[in-house]
Amino acid sequence: MWSENEMAALTICLSDDPILRKKAKPVREFGPLLKRLTEDMAETMHRAPGIGLAAPQVGDSRRVIVADIGEGVIPLVNPKILAQEGSAWDTEGCLSFPNLYGEVERAEKVTVKAQDESGKWKRIEAEGLLARVFQHEIDHLDGILFIDKAVNLREILPEQIEAAQQEAARSL
Ligand code: CO
Repeated sequence: MWSENEMAALTICLSDDPILRKKAKPVREFGPLLKRLTEDMAETMHRAPGIGLAAPQVGDSRRVIVADIGEGVIPLVNPKILAQEGSAWDTEGCLSFPNLYGEVERAEKVTVKAQDESGKWKRIEAEGLLARVFQHEIDHLDGILFIDKAVNLREILPEQIEAAQQEAARSL
């Protein structure tokens, strides 16, 4: 039985879905419904499995992302990169392009400001993988996809998708 408090996995929009190219709108209403969205997004990300997810990927064109690199879920509302430093290349995938992988250059460190589900502003400094996830997801909010930036973009076979996701843990 479905209960109101239970989290629900949402459907992930794939490749040529036009919502992935739309610029997402700022969130202006905070509270329980927004919290419900971030919880459902976290559930969807974990089940996929992935380490980041942006709201447009689940059909909601608002500026909301979630990330979890194994240290707990970080929901960010209206995130903005204030500063960035250094650069690093690494392999990325995307839950909206489950059969594609490629190398993407990102800043090594970022300072992000964002609101929580109740509207309170916070500032987060991230480096390495978490900084990469934030940059990939914030790009999603502007309709920018990793395939726009990746080099050596390659398609893997359907039967290799699960193994690639487990191994690389780079599906964002
Ligand atoms: Co993605």
